[in-house]
Amino acid sequence: MKALVLAGGSGTRLRPITHTSSKQLVPVANKPILFYGLESIAAAGITDVGVIVGSTAAEIEAAVGDGAAFGLNVTYIPQSEPLGLAHAVLIAEPFLGDDDFVMYLGDNFVLDGITDVVEEFREAPHAAQVLLTRVKNPTAFGVAITDDKGNVLELEEKPAAPRGDLAVAGVYFFKAAVHEAVRAIRPSARGELEITDALQWMIDQGMAVCSTVITGYWKDTGNVTDMLEVNRTLLERLQPSVDGYVDDESEIIGRVRVEAGAEVRRSRIVGPAIIGAGSVVSDSYVGPSTSVAEDCRITHSEIEYSIVLRESSFDHIRRVAASLVGRNVRVTLAPGPPATHRLVIGDHGHVELSS
Ligand code: DAU
Repeated sequence: MKALVLAGGSGTRLRPITHTSSKQLVPVANKPILFYGLESIAAAGITDVGVIVGSTAAEIEAAVGDGAAFGLNVTYIPQSEPLGLAHAVLIAEPFLGDDDFVMYLGDNFVLDGITDVVEEFREAPHAAQVLLTRVKNPTAFGVAITDDKGNVLELEEKPAAPRGDLAVAGVYFFKAAVHEAVRAIRPSARGELEITDALQWMIDQGMAVCSTVITGYWKDTGNVTDMLEVNRTLLERLQPSVDGYVDDESEIIGRVRVEAGAEVRRSRIVGPAIIGAGSVVSDSYVGPSTSVAEDCRITHSEIEYSIVLRESSFDHIRRVAASLVGRNVRVTLAPGPPATHRLVIGDHGHVELSS
């Protein structure tokens, strides 16, 4: 079995972060979201992986390389434009050949991995299998209607009036019959070749499409709220360790990882939290569910329930919460008086001020 990982797309809901970098490389618990998927694929015993890349191809290729670090053999498949999930399958046909494959959306997070379902599909006679999960907001997803044995009867992409709450999670299993399906369908109203339409085509042709309802934790990290939630969930499982320097005047409470080369001085870190290599936290408070990436400076500041990307700094700022801060960002106090907010924010930035 092969794997097809989708790491193209435009990431509009994560702007402005995605103006400058790929959404699949935003770190959760200081590791790119995409890496968790690649690790799950490797853990399931799959080695040949095609990675669909778009405008952020260079960054993805620099991060993933030839895949050897994951025990994988990675082939990059450039997609000229994000023309849909089924379009990704269409252009991957030369790589996939007649092999069975799992298609994994690079911004999705499945906490328990995919090993069991991979094993199941290796033996299965059916043409396709999808992972489903119950959601509160089915309008944001592909929605499946199944019979009581889990056979998929109907699928609809982002329905205005959903007839169920079983959303298609971003992991799909296919036999080679899918190639005929992606050639047969036409672009949807949003101009994309939808994988839900390809699956529906297979059902209409009389092919069996089965499903597995996952009860464990799953998230599509397409927006900031979900990204923070995945970060929180992962930090709760963090192996605490202090490999960096923590002075006697600091307090470390709960699950906290201070990576090698990080420094904590006169500060209070309440876990779960992670302080990345080379970062310096001084005279500050870092609260629960916070990931500070590498080479950051947190000085006389307070931050909690947030993700801070590398080389960013906070100086005399209290208190930041529920925030996603990009790379190389500087947040400082404006010189006063008068008390003003001075902002230099990238396109599509979003700022909420408390006063
Ligand atoms: O997250 C699950 C949902 O994923 C499913 O419930 C939907 O049925 C499915 O259509 C998909 O919906 P999204 O709107 O969330 O898909 P998105 O555009 O975010 O793309 C998913 C991933 O695939 C993302 O990592 C970007 C990548 N991608 C997307 C497109 C459209 C590509 O690599 N190429 C593409 O052409």
